[in-house]
Amino acid sequence: MITTDQTVRTFLDFFRDRGHELTPGGSLIPSPGDPVLFTTSGMHPLTPYLLGRPHPLGRRLTNVQRCLRTTDLDEVGDDTHLTVFEMLGSWSLGDYGGPQSLRWGIELLRDGFGIDPRRIHGTVFGGDDRVEPDHESWRTWQDLGLPVEPTTEENWWSNGPTGLCGPDSEIFLWTGSENPQGTPTTDDRWVEIWNHVTMRYVRHPDGGLEPVRRPGIDTGMGLERLGRILQNTPSVFEIDVFRPWSTTLPRLWGPLGESSLRVVSDHLRSSIVILGDRVTPSLSGRGHILRRLIRRTLTTLWRDDPSRTLSDLPIDLFDHTLDHFRQHVDPHPVRTLLLDEEHKFDLLLQRGRQVLSHRRFAGPLTDDDYRYLHDTHGLPRDLAVYLSTESGIGRGRLDSKRRAGPRP
Ligand code: SER
Repeated sequence: MITTDQTVRTFLDFFRDRGHELTPGGSLIPSPGDPVLFTTSGMHPLTPYLLGRPHPLGRRLTNVQRCLRTTDLDEVGDDTHLTVFEMLGSWSLGDYGGPQSLRWGIELLRDGFGIDPRRIHGTVFGGDDRVEPDHESWRTWQDLGLPVEPTTEENWWSNGPTGLCGPDSEIFLWTGSENPQGTPTTDDRWVEIWNHVTMRYVRHPDGGLEPVRRPGIDTGMGLERLGRILQNTPSVFEIDVFRPWSTTLPRLWGPLGESSLRVVSDHLRSSIVILGDRVTPSLSGRGHILRRLIRRTLTTLWRDDPSRTLSDLPIDLFDHTLDHFRQHVDPHPVRTLLLDEEHKFDLLLQRGRQVLSHRRFAGPLTDDDYRYLHDTHGLPRDLAVYLSTESGIGRGRLDSKRRAGPRP
């Protein structure tokens, strides 16, 4: 079985053998001027070069980049979505075009990773009222003898409301146990793993599309999703990099149930990586995303057992995670920040519970109640809802913690 580390090496070697230079993967914090809160794709650090500035390493590049997507937050826990994940990338900065990129992509999947071509399906941009279909990519899929499906919105990539954008061609792999059937839009067992974008335009605030002088190619492949195929696991959560989580957490906290184990593993792992990139929990922006992840972890854990605490987490898990994401930071302060946030949340819940025990809040909460709870007691609406519907979650948490005593 090919490990995640070997998968990364095979990818990078493949592109290095084809003249691509390795650029160092960067932080989750995008460069100033980038319209997104977190790096959501490997191309972020390369934006100026895709816009035409010469890159010191040349016109063919490759790397592996940690990314974070919150658009998929509610989907975390299914078989494919993660909050923080890694993206394998290759770029042509005005050098070769989309057809070459797709040909190499298929060659790597088929010959480099040994994936049966019958499990491969493509999609291309089918055109809309402003931009014509991506004929080049369409023909390439046909020449390769692989099935391809045109779509519109699904095959248009943009880096936020303004900036670089263009048509993309996506590679899907079949994850079902039966023979492949249907198409990516009709059967969700086709899972998107690799996107090949032709960065052909810059979108202006008025919506106008300005063609770039020399379109670049930007590709990104989800490492954990590829790992799921290569390691033949039912979901991304069983691949090797998640093993320390799936063995340690049930040992610490008893059986969590499949869906909670997935959410808690994803959110804790993501929180450690975000903290490792020196973001701290706060009321807005990046820190708020981090706070949401930690709170969601805690409400999931406390729902069944209020004595669970993040102080149970062994430092090895922090080390393993930071190391895997190539973050050279001391795990101890990261752990301290996580525990501080747990403590703050615990205090907030206790205060909220006290306020809500007043008989004014005995019935269903009204909009006025929520406003009052927020403005006077700093209790956000979602937490007020959570507390008013809790059936003992976290209730009396400190008492039960004391009863439970320290965990081994
Ligand atoms: N930017 C594209 C994506 O994120 C390809 O890397 O899908």
